[in-house]
Amino acid sequence: MSSAQTLRPHMHLKNGASGNPILCVEEVPVSRALAKVSTPFYLTSLTAVSDRVRCYREALQSCFPLNQLYYALKANWAEPIVGAVRENGGGFDIVSSGELHHLLALGVPPESICFAGVGKSPQEIEDALAAEVGILNIEHLGELSHALQSLQIKRSTTRLALRLNPCLDVDTHPHLRTGALDSKFGLLKEHILGFLDNNVAFFDGSSALGHPLKQSLCGLHIHVGSQLLDAQLFALVVEALTDLADEMVSRGFPIAHLDFGGGLGVGRAGVPCDGSDIRNHVSGLRRALVAAVAQRPRLSQLWGADLHAVQICLEPGRSVVASSTIFVSQVLFTRVNDSEHRFAFVDGGMNDFPRPSLYGAVHSVVQACSGADVVREVAAVVETLPVQPERELGLLGSQRSDTAVAGGRGLKIVGPVCESADVLARDPELDSVAVGDVLAFFEAGAYCRSMASTYNMRRLPPTLFVQGDTLIL
Ligand code: LLP
Repeated sequence: MSSAQTLRPHMHLKNGASGNPILCVEEVPVSRALAKVSTPFYLTSLTAVSDRVRCYREALQSCFPLNQLYYALKANWAEPIVGAVRENGGGFDIVSSGELHHLLALGVPPESICFAGVGKSPQEIEDALAAEVGILNIEHLGELSHALQSLQIKRSTTRLALRLNPCLDVDTHPHLRTGALDSKFGLLKEHILGFLDNNVAFFDGSSALGHPLKQSLCGLHIHVGSQLLDAQLFALVVEALTDLADEMVSRGFPIAHLDFGGGLGVGRAGVPCDGSDIRNHVSGLRRALVAAVAQRPRLSQLWGADLHAVQICLEPGRSVVASSTIFVSQVLFTRVNDSEHRFAFVDGGMNDFPRPSLYGAVHSVVQACSGADVVREVAAVVETLPVQPERELGLLGSQRSDTAVAGGRGLKIVGPVCESADVLARDPELDSVAVGDVLAFFEAGAYCRSMASTYNMRRLPPTLFVQGDTLIL
Protein backbone atom coordinates (compact mmCIF):
# COMPACT_ATOMS: atom_id res chain seq x y z
CA MET A 1 0.00 0.00 0.00
CA SER A 2 1.38 3.44 -0.89
CA SER A 3 1.87 6.10 1.75
CA ALA A 4 -1.24 8.10 2.57
CA GLN A 5 -1.67 11.65 1.28
CA THR A 6 -3.22 14.00 3.84
CA LEU A 7 -5.84 16.31 2.31
CA ARG A 8 -7.41 17.74 5.45
CA PRO A 9 -6.87 17.13 9.17
CA HIS A 10 -7.83 13.48 9.72
CA MET A 11 -8.59 12.92 6.03
CA HIS A 12 -6.27 11.21 3.61
CA LEU A 13 -6.14 9.29 0.35
CA LYS A 14 -5.06 5.67 0.61
CA ASN A 15 -4.73 3.16 -2.17
CA GLY A 16 -7.63 0.73 -2.31
CA ALA A 17 -7.51 -2.90 -3.41
CA SER A 18 -7.37 -1.90 -7.08
CA GLY A 19 -4.49 0.49 -6.48
CA ASN A 20 -6.72 3.52 -7.03
CA PRO A 21 -6.92 6.10 -4.22
CA ILE A 22 -9.83 6.00 -1.81
CA LEU A 23 -10.59 8.87 0.56
CA CYS A 24 -10.49 7.95 4.23
CA VAL A 25 -11.98 9.92 7.10
CA GLU A 26 -9.79 8.99 10.05
CA GLU A 27 -9.42 5.24 9.58
CA VAL A 28 -12.68 4.73 7.71
CA PRO A 29 -12.60 4.58 3.88
CA VAL A 30 -15.55 6.29 2.22
CA SER A 31 -16.45 2.91 0.70
CA ARG A 32 -17.39 1.66 4.18
CA ALA A 33 -19.88 4.48 4.55
CA LEU A 34 -21.19 3.82 1.02
CA ALA A 35 -22.03 0.33 2.16
CA LYS A 36 -24.24 1.70 4.94
CA VAL A 37 -26.21 4.56 3.40
CA SER A 38 -26.98 5.74 -0.07
CA THR A 39 -25.56 8.95 -1.42
CA PRO A 40 -25.80 11.88 -0.89
CA PHE A 41 -24.62 12.06 2.71
CA TYR A 42 -22.24 13.90 5.01
CA LEU A 43 -19.32 12.22 6.73
CA THR A 44 -17.71 13.92 9.75
CA SER A 45 -14.48 13.30 11.63
CA LEU A 46 -15.24 13.86 15.31
CA THR A 47 -11.55 13.89 16.13
CA ALA A 48 -11.15 16.82 13.75
CA VAL A 49 -13.90 18.70 15.63
CA SER A 50 -12.37 17.90 19.02
CA ASP A 51 -8.92 19.04 17.87
CA ARG A 52 -10.24 22.42 16.76
CA VAL A 53 -12.21 22.99 19.97
CA ARG A 54 -9.16 22.06 22.04
CA CYS A 55 -6.99 24.32 19.96
CA TYR A 56 -9.33 27.29 20.55
CA ARG A 57 -9.51 26.53 24.28
CA GLU A 58 -5.74 26.25 24.64
CA ALA A 59 -5.12 29.43 22.65
CA LEU A 60 -7.66 31.36 24.75
CA GLN A 61 -6.23 29.94 27.95
CA SER A 62 -2.71 30.96 27.04
CA CYS A 63 -3.74 34.52 26.11
CA PHE A 64 -6.51 35.46 28.53
CA PRO A 65 -6.72 34.46 32.22
CA LEU A 66 -10.54 34.58 32.06
CA ASN A 67 -12.04 33.22 28.86
CA GLN A 68 -14.94 31.31 27.37
CA LEU A 69 -15.42 29.58 24.05
CA TYR A 70 -18.97 29.57 22.71
CA TYR A 71 -19.21 27.35 19.62
CA ALA A 72 -21.78 28.82 17.18
CA LEU A 73 -24.33 26.01 17.06
CA LYS A 74 -25.97 27.30 13.87
CA ALA A 75 -22.94 26.09 11.90
CA ASN A 76 -23.80 22.47 12.73
CA TRP A 77 -25.99 21.25 15.55
CA ALA A 78 -25.57 17.49 15.16
CA GLU A 79 -25.58 15.73 18.53
CA PRO A 80 -22.12 14.12 18.22
CA ILE A 81 -20.68 17.55 17.45
CA VAL A 82 -22.37 19.02 20.51
CA GLY A 83 -20.81 16.13 22.46
CA ALA A 84 -17.33 16.82 21.06
CA VAL A 85 -17.60 20.53 21.93
CA ARG A 86 -18.71 19.75 25.49
CA GLU A 87 -16.09 17.07 26.11
CA ASN A 88 -13.43 19.59 25.21
CA GLY A 89 -14.73 22.32 27.48
CA GLY A 90 -16.60 24.52 24.99
CA GLY A 91 -19.86 26.35 25.57
CA PHE A 92 -22.41 27.33 22.91
CA ASP A 93 -23.60 30.43 21.06
CA ILE A 94 -27.26 30.05 20.11
CA VAL A 95 -29.86 32.13 18.28
CA SER A 96 -33.28 30.65 19.00
CA SER A 97 -35.35 28.84 21.60
CA GLY A 98 -35.17 25.82 19.28
CA GLU A 99 -31.40 25.72 19.73
CA LEU A 100 -31.80 26.35 23.47
CA HIS A 101 -34.16 23.41 23.91
CA HIS A 102 -31.92 21.18 21.77
CA LEU A 103 -28.96 21.89 24.07
CA LEU A 104 -30.91 21.63 27.31
CA ALA A 105 -32.31 18.26 26.19
CA LEU A 106 -28.73 17.09 25.60
CA GLY A 107 -27.83 18.10 29.17
CA VAL A 108 -25.73 21.17 28.31
CA PRO A 109 -25.44 23.41 31.42
CA PRO A 110 -27.29 26.70 30.74
CA GLU A 111 -24.49 28.80 32.20
CA SER A 112 -22.27 27.67 29.32
CA ILE A 113 -24.74 29.12 26.80
CA CYS A 114 -24.70 32.57 25.22
CA PHE A 115 -28.11 33.40 23.69
CA ALA A 116 -27.75 35.82 20.77
CA GLY A 117 -30.14 36.57 17.90
CA VAL A 118 -31.15 39.67 16.01
CA GLY A 119 -34.91 39.24 16.34
CA LYS A 120 -35.75 37.38 19.51
CA SER A 121 -39.44 37.11 20.32
CA PRO A 122 -40.59 38.12 23.82
CA GLN A 123 -41.01 34.40 24.52
CA GLU A 124 -37.40 33.74 23.54
CA ILE A 125 -36.17 36.43 25.93
CA GLU A 126 -38.27 34.84 28.68
CA ASP A 127 -36.97 31.36 27.79
CA ALA A 128 -33.37 32.57 28.03
CA LEU A 129 -33.92 34.23 31.42
CA ALA A 130 -35.96 31.33 32.79
CA ALA A 131 -33.27 28.84 31.78
CA GLU A 132 -30.67 31.21 33.30
CA VAL A 133 -28.35 31.04 30.33
CA GLY A 134 -24.95 32.55 31.08
CA ILE A 135 -25.26 35.54 28.76
CA LEU A 136 -28.05 37.15 26.77
CA ASN A 137 -26.73 39.24 23.88
CA ILE A 138 -28.93 42.25 23.22
CA GLU A 139 -29.46 43.82 19.79
CA HIS A 140 -32.32 46.33 20.33
CA LEU A 141 -33.13 48.97 22.92
CA GLY A 142 -36.63 47.48 23.23
CA GLU A 143 -35.09 44.10 23.94
CA LEU A 144 -32.85 45.73 26.56
CA SER A 145 -35.82 47.32 28.35
CA HIS A 146 -37.70 44.03 28.31
CA ALA A 147 -34.71 42.03 29.60
CA LEU A 148 -33.87 44.54 32.36
CA GLN A 149 -37.45 44.64 33.64
CA SER A 150 -37.74 40.89 33.50
CA LEU A 151 -34.40 40.41 35.27
CA GLN A 152 -35.59 42.70 38.04
CA ILE A 153 -38.77 40.70 38.56
CA LYS A 154 -37.30 37.21 38.17
CA ARG A 155 -33.86 37.85 39.70
CA SER A 156 -32.38 35.63 36.98
CA THR A 157 -28.61 35.21 37.17
CA THR A 158 -28.29 35.75 33.40
CA ARG A 159 -25.94 38.61 32.49
CA LEU A 160 -26.58 40.95 29.56
CA ALA A 161 -24.17 41.92 26.77
CA LEU A 162 -24.89 44.69 24.25
CA ARG A 163 -23.99 43.98 20.64
CA LEU A 164 -22.25 46.90 19.01
CA ASN A 165 -22.57 47.76 15.34
CA PRO A 166 -19.18 49.42 14.76
CA CYS A 167 -20.03 50.57 11.22
CA LEU A 168 -17.11 48.64 9.77
CA ASP A 169 -17.32 47.37 6.22
CA VAL A 170 -15.45 44.12 5.85
CA ASP A 171 -14.20 42.10 2.91
CA THR A 172 -16.43 39.06 2.59
CA HIS A 173 -19.54 37.98 0.68
CA PRO A 174 -22.24 40.71 1.09
CA HIS A 175 -24.56 38.18 2.75
CA LEU A 176 -21.94 37.48 5.41
CA ARG A 177 -21.30 41.11 6.46
CA THR A 178 -22.89 42.09 9.76
CA GLY A 179 -21.12 45.18 11.09
CA ALA A 180 -21.65 47.98 8.56
CA LEU A 181 -24.05 50.94 8.79
CA ASP A 182 -26.46 49.23 6.38
CA SER A 183 -26.51 46.08 8.50
CA LYS A 184 -29.49 44.99 10.58
CA PHE A 185 -27.24 43.63 13.32
CA GLY A 186 -26.18 45.34 16.53
CA LEU A 187 -26.71 48.75 18.12
CA LEU A 188 -24.95 51.96 17.21
CA LYS A 189 -22.74 53.38 19.95
CA GLU A 190 -24.77 56.62 20.15
CA HIS A 191 -28.00 54.65 20.61
CA ILE A 192 -26.49 52.66 23.48
CA LEU A 193 -25.06 55.70 25.27
CA GLY A 194 -28.28 57.69 24.68
CA PHE A 195 -30.30 54.92 26.36
CA LEU A 196 -27.96 54.72 29.34
CA ASP A 197 -27.96 58.50 29.79
CA ASN A 198 -31.75 58.67 29.57
CA ASN A 199 -32.23 55.95 32.16
CA VAL A 200 -29.86 56.95 34.95
CA ALA A 201 -32.70 57.04 37.47
CA PHE A 202 -33.90 53.56 36.49
CA PHE A 203 -30.45 52.02 36.97
CA ASP A 204 -29.86 53.88 40.24
CA GLY A 205 -33.33 52.87 41.45
CA SER A 206 -32.60 49.20 40.82
CA SER A 207 -29.63 49.40 43.19
CA ALA A 208 -31.91 50.88 45.85
CA LEU A 209 -34.27 47.90 45.31
CA GLY A 210 -31.40 45.49 46.04
CA HIS A 211 -30.88 44.18 42.48
CA PRO A 212 -28.39 46.53 40.85
CA LEU A 213 -28.98 46.20 37.13
CA LYS A 214 -25.70 47.93 36.32
CA GLN A 215 -24.08 44.72 37.54
CA SER A 216 -26.20 42.66 35.15
CA LEU A 217 -25.39 44.85 32.15
CA CYS A 218 -21.71 44.02 32.28
CA GLY A 219 -20.95 42.62 28.81
CA LEU A 220 -20.26 43.85 25.29
CA HIS A 221 -20.48 41.85 22.08
CA ILE A 222 -19.37 42.38 18.50
CA HIS A 223 -19.40 40.21 15.35
CA VAL A 224 -18.70 41.98 12.07
CA GLY A 225 -19.09 39.09 9.66
CA SER A 226 -18.23 35.58 8.67
CA GLN A 227 -15.52 34.01 6.49
CA LEU A 228 -13.08 36.81 7.37
CA LEU A 229 -9.55 36.24 6.13
CA ASP A 230 -8.03 39.68 6.87
CA ALA A 231 -6.17 39.44 10.19
CA GLN A 232 -5.76 43.26 10.44
CA LEU A 233 -9.49 43.70 10.70
CA PHE A 234 -9.71 42.34 14.23
CA ALA A 235 -7.57 45.22 15.57
CA LEU A 236 -10.30 47.63 14.37
CA VAL A 237 -12.93 45.46 16.03
CA VAL A 238 -11.01 45.53 19.32
CA GLU A 239 -10.61 49.31 19.08
CA ALA A 240 -14.37 49.81 18.55
CA LEU A 241 -15.37 47.58 21.46
CA THR A 242 -12.85 48.97 23.96
CA ASP A 243 -13.91 52.48 23.02
CA LEU A 244 -17.50 51.67 23.97
CA ALA A 245 -16.36 49.78 27.08
CA ASP A 246 -14.48 52.87 28.24
CA GLU A 247 -17.58 55.05 27.82
CA MET A 248 -19.71 52.57 29.74
CA VAL A 249 -17.20 52.16 32.55
CA SER A 250 -17.11 55.94 32.90
CA ARG A 251 -20.89 55.77 33.47
CA GLY A 252 -20.53 53.19 36.23
CA PHE A 253 -21.21 50.00 34.26
CA PRO A 254 -18.64 47.43 35.41
CA ILE A 255 -17.88 45.91 32.00
CA ALA A 256 -16.12 42.61 32.62
CA HIS A 257 -17.11 40.46 29.61
CA LEU A 258 -16.05 41.09 26.00
CA ASP A 259 -17.29 38.76 23.29
CA PHE A 260 -15.53 39.19 19.96
CA GLY A 261 -17.92 36.91 18.07
CA GLY A 262 -16.86 34.42 15.43
CA GLY A 263 -15.85 35.04 11.84
CA LEU A 264 -12.44 33.44 11.37
CA GLY A 265 -12.47 32.30 7.74
CA VAL A 266 -11.41 29.02 6.21
CA GLY A 267 -9.50 29.12 2.92
CA ARG A 268 -9.99 26.82 -0.08
CA ALA A 269 -7.32 24.43 1.15
CA GLY A 270 -9.16 23.96 4.44
CA VAL A 271 -7.83 24.58 7.93
CA PRO A 272 -4.15 23.95 8.65
CA CYS A 273 -3.42 20.67 10.42
CA ASP A 274 -1.39 22.42 13.15
CA GLY A 275 -4.09 24.88 14.28
CA SER A 276 -1.82 27.86 13.55
CA ASP A 277 -4.76 29.89 12.17
CA ILE A 278 -6.49 29.76 15.54
CA ARG A 279 -3.36 30.51 17.54
CA ASN A 280 -2.52 33.51 15.32
CA HIS A 281 -6.07 34.81 15.55
CA VAL A 282 -6.24 34.61 19.33
CA SER A 283 -2.75 35.99 19.94
CA GLY A 284 -3.52 38.83 17.49
CA LEU A 285 -6.61 39.66 19.53
CA ARG A 286 -4.54 39.72 22.70
CA ARG A 287 -1.96 42.06 21.19
CA ALA A 288 -4.67 44.43 19.95
CA LEU A 289 -6.51 44.36 23.27
CA VAL A 290 -3.41 44.97 25.38
CA ALA A 291 -2.55 47.94 23.15
CA ALA A 292 -6.11 49.34 23.28
CA VAL A 293 -6.32 48.99 27.06
CA ALA A 294 -2.91 50.61 27.57
CA GLN A 295 -4.37 53.78 26.01
CA ARG A 296 -7.39 53.79 28.33
CA PRO A 297 -6.46 54.24 32.01
CA ARG A 298 -10.00 53.47 33.25
CA LEU A 299 -9.89 50.08 31.55
CA SER A 300 -6.37 49.18 32.65
CA GLN A 301 -7.38 50.02 36.19
CA LEU A 302 -10.51 47.88 36.01
CA TRP A 303 -9.12 44.91 34.06
CA GLY A 304 -5.41 45.12 34.84
CA ALA A 305 -2.79 45.67 32.16
CA ASP A 306 -2.52 41.85 31.90
CA LEU A 307 -6.33 41.59 31.43
CA HIS A 308 -6.79 39.35 34.46
CA ALA A 309 -10.16 40.84 35.36
CA VAL A 310 -12.02 40.75 32.06
CA GLN A 311 -13.53 37.64 30.49
CA ILE A 312 -12.68 37.31 26.79
CA CYS A 313 -15.05 35.22 24.70
CA LEU A 314 -15.20 33.97 21.12
CA GLU A 315 -18.08 32.45 19.15
CA PRO A 316 -16.51 30.58 16.24
CA GLY A 317 -18.59 28.30 14.07
CA ARG A 318 -17.08 27.73 10.63
CA SER A 319 -13.45 27.54 11.78
CA VAL A 320 -14.38 24.79 14.26
CA VAL A 321 -16.33 22.44 12.03
CA ALA A 322 -15.95 23.31 8.32
CA SER A 323 -13.01 21.06 7.50
CA SER A 324 -14.21 18.18 9.69
CA THR A 325 -16.77 17.04 7.13
CA ILE A 326 -17.18 15.98 3.50
CA PHE A 327 -20.32 15.94 1.42
CA VAL A 328 -20.43 12.71 -0.57
CA SER A 329 -22.37 12.35 -3.81
CA GLN A 330 -22.31 9.96 -6.76
CA VAL A 331 -22.22 10.75 -10.48
CA LEU A 332 -25.44 9.68 -12.23
CA PHE A 333 -24.84 10.93 -15.77
CA THR A 334 -22.38 12.92 -17.79
CA ARG A 335 -23.00 15.06 -20.87
CA VAL A 336 -20.88 17.09 -23.27
CA ASN A 337 -22.69 19.95 -25.01
CA ASP A 338 -19.44 21.23 -26.44
CA SER A 339 -15.88 21.25 -25.22
CA GLU A 340 -16.53 24.30 -23.02
CA HIS A 341 -19.82 23.04 -21.61
CA ARG A 342 -19.50 19.67 -19.95
CA PHE A 343 -21.69 18.37 -17.15
CA ALA A 344 -21.48 15.77 -14.44
CA PHE A 345 -24.88 15.19 -12.83
CA VAL A 346 -24.62 14.06 -9.22
CA ASP A 347 -27.33 12.77 -6.89
CA GLY A 348 -26.84 15.58 -4.35
CA GLY A 349 -28.35 18.97 -5.05
CA MET A 350 -28.54 22.54 -3.82
CA ASN A 351 -31.10 21.48 -1.24
CA ASP A 352 -28.56 19.08 0.31
CA PHE A 353 -25.45 21.23 -0.07
CA PRO A 354 -26.61 24.83 -0.42
CA ARG A 355 -23.51 27.03 -0.06
CA PRO A 356 -22.39 27.01 -3.73
CA SER A 357 -25.80 28.12 -4.99
CA LEU A 358 -26.49 30.53 -2.11
CA TYR A 359 -23.15 32.33 -1.91
CA GLY A 360 -21.25 31.18 -4.98
CA ALA A 361 -19.03 29.38 -2.46
CA VAL A 362 -16.22 27.28 -3.88
CA HIS A 363 -15.74 23.92 -2.17
CA SER A 364 -12.82 21.80 -3.35
CA VAL A 365 -13.88 18.45 -4.67
CA VAL A 366 -12.01 15.19 -5.11
CA GLN A 367 -12.84 11.75 -6.37
CA ALA A 368 -13.42 9.80 -3.15
CA CYS A 369 -13.78 6.44 -4.87
CA SER A 370 -13.88 5.61 -8.56
CA GLY A 371 -16.98 3.92 -9.96
CA ALA A 372 -15.11 0.69 -10.56
CA ASP A 373 -13.79 0.72 -7.02
CA VAL A 374 -17.23 1.36 -5.62
CA VAL A 375 -18.23 -2.07 -6.86
CA ARG A 376 -15.00 -3.71 -5.80
CA GLU A 377 -14.80 -2.09 -2.37
CA VAL A 378 -18.43 -2.06 -1.47
CA ALA A 379 -18.90 -5.58 -2.83
CA ALA A 380 -21.93 -7.34 -1.35
CA VAL A 381 -23.78 -4.28 -0.13
CA VAL A 382 -23.61 -2.30 -3.33
CA GLU A 383 -27.39 -2.15 -3.58
CA THR A 384 -27.38 0.95 -1.36
CA LEU A 385 -26.02 2.93 -4.29
CA PRO A 386 -28.27 4.66 -6.78
CA VAL A 387 -25.87 3.77 -9.56
CA GLN A 388 -24.20 0.40 -9.65
CA PRO A 389 -21.51 1.31 -12.09
CA GLU A 390 -20.46 -2.09 -13.40
CA ARG A 391 -24.00 -3.25 -13.99
CA GLU A 392 -25.01 0.07 -15.50
CA LEU A 393 -22.04 0.21 -17.80
CA GLY A 394 -22.40 -3.50 -18.56
CA LEU A 395 -25.99 -2.98 -19.65
CA LEU A 396 -24.92 -0.29 -22.02
CA GLY A 397 -21.96 -2.34 -23.14
CA SER A 398 -19.79 0.63 -22.17
CA GLN A 399 -16.46 1.22 -20.51
CA ARG A 400 -15.80 3.90 -17.88
CA SER A 401 -14.07 5.87 -20.60
CA ASP A 402 -17.37 6.07 -22.56
CA THR A 403 -18.94 8.18 -19.83
CA ALA A 404 -15.84 10.02 -18.63
CA VAL A 405 -15.70 13.76 -19.17
CA ALA A 406 -12.60 15.88 -18.62
CA GLY A 407 -12.38 17.94 -15.43
CA GLY A 408 -11.16 21.52 -15.16
CA ARG A 409 -12.38 24.52 -17.13
CA GLY A 410 -15.81 24.05 -18.65
CA LEU A 411 -17.01 21.25 -16.36
CA LYS A 412 -19.97 21.92 -14.09
CA ILE A 413 -20.98 19.49 -11.37
CA VAL A 414 -24.73 19.86 -11.20
CA GLY A 415 -27.49 18.41 -9.05
CA PRO A 416 -30.98 17.04 -9.69
CA VAL A 417 -32.95 20.04 -8.39
CA CYS A 418 -35.12 21.85 -10.92
CA GLU A 419 -33.17 25.12 -10.77
CA SER A 420 -30.36 26.38 -12.95
CA ALA A 421 -28.70 27.57 -9.72
CA ASP A 422 -28.20 23.92 -8.78
CA VAL A 423 -24.47 23.92 -9.52
CA LEU A 424 -22.23 22.36 -6.86
CA ALA A 425 -18.88 23.12 -8.48
CA ARG A 426 -17.57 24.98 -11.54
CA ASP A 427 -14.28 24.15 -13.27
CA PRO A 428 -13.31 21.65 -10.55
CA GLU A 429 -9.70 20.49 -10.38
CA LEU A 430 -10.48 16.90 -11.31
CA ASP A 431 -8.75 14.97 -14.09
CA SER A 432 -11.97 13.38 -15.27
CA VAL A 433 -15.37 12.32 -13.97
CA ALA A 434 -17.42 9.28 -15.02
CA VAL A 435 -20.76 7.70 -14.18
CA GLY A 436 -20.57 5.88 -10.87
CA ASP A 437 -17.68 7.92 -9.47
CA VAL A 438 -18.17 9.06 -5.93
CA LEU A 439 -17.14 12.66 -5.24
CA ALA A 440 -16.32 14.33 -1.92
CA PHE A 441 -16.77 18.08 -1.39
CA PHE A 442 -14.59 19.55 1.38
CA GLU A 443 -15.35 22.14 4.06
CA ALA A 444 -18.85 20.74 4.28
CA GLY A 445 -19.06 20.80 8.09
CA ALA A 446 -20.28 24.38 8.52
CA TYR A 447 -23.56 25.83 7.27
CA CYS A 448 -24.17 22.94 4.89
CA ARG A 449 -26.20 20.20 6.57
CA SER A 450 -27.62 22.83 8.96
CA MET A 451 -28.99 24.83 5.99
CA ALA A 452 -30.12 21.84 3.93
CA SER A 453 -33.80 21.81 2.94
CA THR A 454 -36.36 19.43 1.53
CA TYR A 455 -36.93 21.56 -1.60
CA ASN A 456 -38.38 19.43 -4.43
CA MET A 457 -39.59 17.17 -1.57
CA ARG A 458 -36.19 15.57 -1.34
CA ARG A 459 -35.09 13.77 1.83
CA LEU A 460 -32.58 15.52 4.09
CA PRO A 461 -29.14 13.97 3.65
CA PRO A 462 -27.96 11.90 6.62
CA THR A 463 -24.68 12.54 8.46
CA LEU A 464 -22.38 9.70 9.48
CA PHE A 465 -19.64 10.24 12.05
CA VAL A 466 -16.22 8.71 12.38
CA GLN A 467 -14.00 8.31 15.39
CA GLY A 468 -10.83 6.34 14.80
CA ASP A 469 -11.90 3.23 12.91
CA THR A 470 -15.49 3.40 14.17
CA LEU A 471 -18.27 4.50 11.85
CA ILE A 472 -21.24 5.92 13.76
CA LEU A 473 -24.60 6.07 11.98
N1 LLP B 1 -21.60 34.92 16.25
C1 LLP B 1 -22.58 35.54 15.57
C2 LLP B 1 -23.30 36.62 16.22
C3 LLP B 1 -22.89 35.16 14.27
O1 LLP B 1 -23.86 35.79 13.60
C4 LLP B 1 -22.18 34.11 13.66
C5 LLP B 1 -22.51 33.66 12.31
C6 LLP B 1 -21.15 33.49 14.40
C7 LLP B 1 -20.89 33.92 15.68
C8 LLP B 1 -20.30 32.39 13.82
O2 LLP B 1 -19.56 32.88 12.76
P1 LLP B 1 -18.45 31.98 12.03
O3 LLP B 1 -17.32 31.76 12.99
O4 LLP B 1 -19.10 30.70 11.68
O5 LLP B 1 -18.05 32.77 10.86
N2 LLP B 1 -24.53 30.70 6.26
C9 LLP B 1 -23.30 31.47 6.04
C10 LLP B 1 -22.68 31.92 7.31
C11 LLP B 1 -23.61 32.72 8.19
C12 LLP B 1 -22.98 33.16 9.47
C13 LLP B 1 -24.03 33.62 10.42
N3 LLP B 1 -23.50 34.10 11.66
C14 LLP B 1 -22.33 30.62 5.21
O6 LLP B 1 -22.67 29.51 4.83
O7 LLP B 1 -21.23 31.07 4.92
